[in-house]
Amino acid sequence: MTPSSDVALDDILSIRNGHLFVEEVAAEELARRFGTPVYVMSESGLRRRVRRYIQAFQDRWPEGPVHVLPSIKANYSLALRRLLTQEGTGCDTFGLPELYAALQSQVSPELISVNGSSKDRPLVEQALRAGARITIDSPRELTLVRDVARELHVRARIRFRLRPPYEELRQPSDFHDEEVSVRDAAQAYKPGIPTEALLPLGPEALSAPELDVTGVMVHLGRHSTDLAVWKGMARSTGALIGLLHDAWGGWEPREIDLGGGFAAPRDPTARATARGGQRTPGALAPSVEQYADALTEGLRGALAESRVPTKGKVLEVEPGRGLYADAGIHLTTVRNIKSQTKPEARSWVETDTSEMFLLDTLIEKNRWTPVVAERAADLSSQTADIVGISCGFDVIVPDARLPVVAVGDHIAFLDTGAYQDATSANFNAMPRPATILVNGSEAEIIKRAETVEDVFRRDVVPVRLQPSSSPR
Ligand SMILES: Cc1ncc(COP(=O)(O)O)c(C=O)c1O
Repeated sequence: MTPSSDVALDDILSIRNGHLFVEEVAAEELARRFGTPVYVMSESGLRRRVRRYIQAFQDRWPEGPVHVLPSIKANYSLALRRLLTQEGTGCDTFGLPELYAALQSQVSPELISVNGSSKDRPLVEQALRAGARITIDSPRELTLVRDVARELHVRARIRFRLRPPYEELRQPSDFHDEEVSVRDAAQAYKPGIPTEALLPLGPEALSAPELDVTGVMVHLGRHSTDLAVWKGMARSTGALIGLLHDAWGGWEPREIDLGGGFAAPRDPTARATARGGQRTPGALAPSVEQYADALTEGLRGALAESRVPTKGKVLEVEPGRGLYADAGIHLTTVRNIKSQTKPEARSWVETDTSEMFLLDTLIEKNRWTPVVAERAADLSSQTADIVGISCGFDVIVPDARLPVVAVGDHIAFLDTGAYQDATSANFNAMPRPATILVNGSEAEIIKRAETVEDVFRRDVVPVRLQPSSSPR
């Protein structure tokens, strides 16, 4: 690439005259204007992504309506949620705070799925008062929802969260470095009602006047990007629906929610594991359309085999990382550069951010793609660890291939729009970064950075420990 050529990295990011741009704004300009570290999200990018999800599943599920319920846990900025509401989507929520965020953002309650295991009474009450659907995770929850619905004189709309056996899924799960099959790894994941408990629960729920059993829900999670796994998952879910259909006198779900877990195209997830390291650098994960093909084909096939009609059935999906991740970058400033030759050669590019603000470095063993904002077209000529500011090892990208970098340069980590702000932590009493929303050539703060006062806001120093009191 010559320094003057313009190159699109994707539909949001481009390199213009050697400088990284987010939509129509230079990344270094954002860094200077808003300070670093900072999360940056693209409004048009997020809108395009969610429209693509809706279209992909609508095109492949002509049997009935399609609802996309973005998973708010991936990024709970209220401004982002508002724009997803404008796009007509529902919401996957967990717990009272996420339900609050969805309701605050005017999501239609009938498009909310209140998920999560071990729900408590305040959550159930709030969900039922609002008219949100509740995904039942255990017999205990069914009793709780029924009791609360009776007290509130409402009919609760519920779905059963399933635990399909995924018997055929012998492919390795990306959650493990050693060979553990998706089938076995999925069993270790706690959500869902064990089928042996669900079978006797159905007749009770179906005959309860306080309950409207609208359907079923399942969430595979990001075990694999292998489309055969996704098709197999949908098949196993369809077969389990067939079992319920037979056991419950021909019952049919009106809604089938297949959850999330789809990868973002550059998929940084688990790339720092031994298995992830074997993936071809630069290889893209399956497209939204391919995921939609795999899921609808698998589900349709299994339902047909079980003689469960599909006509009119609502299909729902709950994308998180696949929707938000590559709509965002994280910007940082280079504070220092150092290297040694002995006892071993090492170089470090020290930044003003931290793995604490890019926590999937640790949780999901992500390997991020770094781009030096003002040298985006320069050839890589060195290998260095890009490190964070905390007092830990804080290696954000080990052995990164980089151009010559100077103090004051800005580095963008790509694909950080999902889960990074949502999981960021205050280790070393570091205030968490702001989030900026870029829209064309405009940019504004949608979440301000924390202050030092914010970090210590929850602290309470007992009176006896305050400076004026004498020690006992
Ligand atoms: C119930 C449910 N739905 C959707 C998601 C989103 O998953 P992802 O971000 O992998 O798409 C999650 C994530 O944990 C979840 O628990």
